[in-house]
Formats: sequence, structure tokens, C-alpha cells
Amino acid sequence: MRAADAINIADLKALARRRLPRILFDVIESGVEDERGLARNEAAFRDFRILPRYLVDVRTRDPRVTLFGRRYAQPFGIAPTGFAGLFRRGADAMLARAAAAAGVPFILSGACVAKLEDVAAAAPGTIWYHLYAAKDPRISEDLIRRAAASGIEHLVLTVDNPVYPKRERDMRNGFSQPLKLRPSVLAEALLHPGWIIEYLRGGGLPSMETWAHYAPQGATPGEVGAFFRTQSPSVQTWHDLDWLRSLWAGRLIIKGIQHPDDARQAVAAGVDGIIVSNHGGKAFDPLPSPIETLPAVRAAVPPSTPVMLDSGVTRGTDIVIAHCLGADFVFTGRAPLYGVIADGEAGAARAIAILADEIDRALALMGCPEAAELSRAFLLPHGDDARRDPAPRVAAHREDARPTVHAARPGAKED
Ligand SMILES: Cc1cc2nc3c(=O)[nH]c(=O)nc-3n(C[C@H](O)[C@H](O)[C@H](O)COP(=O)(O)O)c2cc1C
Repeated sequence: MRAADAINIADLKALARRRLPRILFDVIESGVEDERGLARNEAAFRDFRILPRYLVDVRTRDPRVTLFGRRYAQPFGIAPTGFAGLFRRGADAMLARAAAAAGVPFILSGACVAKLEDVAAAAPGTIWYHLYAAKDPRISEDLIRRAAASGIEHLVLTVDNPVYPKRERDMRNGFSQPLKLRPSVLAEALLHPGWIIEYLRGGGLPSMETWAHYAPQGATPGEVGAFFRTQSPSVQTWHDLDWLRSLWAGRLIIKGIQHPDDARQAVAAGVDGIIVSNHGGKAFDPLPSPIETLPAVRAAVPPSTPVMLDSGVTRGTDIVIAHCLGADFVFTGRAPLYGVIADGEAGAARAIAILADEIDRALALMGCPEAAELSRAFLLPHGDDARRDPAPRVAAHREDARPTVHAARPGAKED
């Protein structure tokens, strides 16, 4: 199968698995410790049922939503994934171009292999930059300066891994940063010649070009990677957030928050938007799935503050469900990554197109022709809510009888 023939994200995942040595595919797939969070993310979406409205004119559908004053062509964008350029040379620029062509945002990871200026130039005016704040504040300050100088307007600060998480699959595989091609790894890699040929042709393993600037002069790719590890992860506090806010004049978005009090405090500190996320299950195993905590975070901050979500999206309907629960926007990490690994920019575009098509069909099939109109009224109550109100309040003849359904997950605060 080729990426162009993929009919769903699972197909692209199978293609990515075939292309990559296992040690690298597992870097994408792995969660932490027992990987319960990973399983919980996908299962959480499956708990929801969409309650459709029929006899609605859905001949034309509009998936666009407005975020930070800008109309995006789809209600989702691409989350930051570090080391994408290790999985396919040039992956960050490919993702950026595919996102720009589709009219959606792409967040460039602070742990990218590419040079941030090059990726910004590949898709001018569209990329967001994600900061892994360095232990040395002068590096963070310089990264921010470089992002602003590249025309980037949105800075995303990830806060959910102050220390390096325990990713047991990677530990067992012997994955290290920088990647060392030990004989056992090389032997397995030979079974995936596409990846290895590309890297040999390109001169071997790439360097973290954004970070090369801060490593000792003349550092090898391995030494730059090792230098990065001395700086990140780093512990960040509310005090550091104030400092960052004072440095960055553009939109400041905080990623990884799940507690409503943290969300409130972030807004009070001048943050412009929040991405509710558990890092795709890669940070801390007992974390809730963001779909469980989204309603409480949404309720905690003013309606004018965008609340976004990522983690666990494999279908367009997952994106629809998140919007129904109050997300202003949704990001997806692995899905476009599978696409770009499978077939470069065309593969990333294919991943976006698959999700967009599933959203379009969902909007028609649920009787909500505009993504901007998605709301809880389209969700069947479940869990505690279903017990309180077992029958959705649907009456066939009254226009005002749209079900007023409250589908917050058990334990989540209601708005
Ligand atoms: C390979 C990989 C690398 C990632 N690197 C980063 C990163 O550098 N910074 C960050 O904030 N999140 C990172 N994430 C998390 C994603 O931004 C996002 O939160 C997660 O992938 C969403 O879950 P999903 O993959 O199920 O869509 C990474 C995820 C993956 C799979």
C-alpha cells in the first residue's frame, strides 16, 4: 500500500512502522511505565456517543473555526513532535508545508532536528514555535528572539515534563539521545533499508541545528544532542512564566495543563491560550486523559481564552467530540507524523486530508453543518450524567427540544 491509498490513520501508521527501525518507531509509539495513559487516551474518546440531529440541510459543510482571530481551514492542527527529522530527513519543513497548504497551524518542536529559521521560511507566517525552556535562561531568551525574528507569532510553552519521563520501551531498546547506532540496532535497521539509505545518503544522523548554535563550536551531531540533554528538560515555575511573558510580545500558549486552578493561574499570568494535554501519554502514566479534564479547564477560564486539546486523536470524530466538549481547537501529534514518515510532505497532507474527510462526513451525519456550532447538545450523556438523566431530552416536534446534554466525564466539574 502507498500513502496515497491509505484510508485511515491506522494505514499510515502501518506504513510508518514498515519504514522505520523498531527502535525509532517505538520512540513514537511509546508511553511511559505501564503505558496505561496511552491506552486511556484512545479509550476516552470511545466512551462518547454522538447524538445526531436529522432533516438538517447538510448539503454544504463548513469545518472552519476561528482561533486567535484567524480563520483556520480545519478545526485541528499539528502538535509538536521532537526529533521528527530523525524519522525522515526534512520532516519538520514537510509538516510545515503540508499544514500551510491545508490552512492549519503546525507547531514546531523545540526539540526539532531542523533549524527553526529554515522551517519558518518553508511556511512563512503559519508556524507556531514550541519552547522547551533551557536550564540556561540566556538560551531560552535567544530562542524566543530567534522565533520572533522569524515572524513567528505563537509561542507554546510545554510544562508537563520537568524531568525526563520513564519511557520503558525506549530504555529496553537502548534508545539514547543522541542516537547511537549500536550493532544490534544497525542489524534491525537493515530490515528497513528506506530509512537507512536516506540517512547514509544525507551524510549520517542529523544534528539538532537550532541548538547547534549554543553547543561548543565545532560540536558533532552527537555532541549537540548531548548538550541539548544538559539543558532540557528543565524545571519551570510560575516565576519563569512571568519572565517569559515579559519577553514574548506574541501569543503565549501553555501546553500540558490539566488542573483548572493551573489554568486560572496561567490566564492571570497573561497566558493567551491553553492546550490541555498529557503529551500523548508520554509524560506521566497516571495522568488523566485530556478529554476528561477539558470541561473543567474550559469552565475555569474566560470564554475569550482559547482552550485547546491534544492526546489520543486517531479519527476525525475524536476531533469533533473534543469540540463538542468545549475545545476551541484540537491538535494531533502522531497522525501527521505517521504520514510524513510514510511519504514525506504528501504523506503529511494525506493524514490531514483523512482527518478532514472524517470531520466533513461527521458534520453531515450528525446534522451540524458548521464545526463552529459543535456543542454538548450533540453528545449522549454517559457515566454519572446518564444515571442522573438516563433519557436524553429529545422531543420530535418541538424546535426548542434540542437535547441539553451534559456529558462531562465523571469527576469533572460542570460548567
Ligand atoms: C515522537 C513524539 C515527540 C514529541 N515531542 C514533543 C515535544 O517536543 N514537545 C511537546 O510539547 N510535545 C511533544 N510530543 C507530544 C505531542 O506534542 C502531543 O502532545 C501528542 O503527540 C498528542 O498525542 P497524539 O500523538 O495521540 O496525537 C511528542 C509526541 C511524540 C509522539
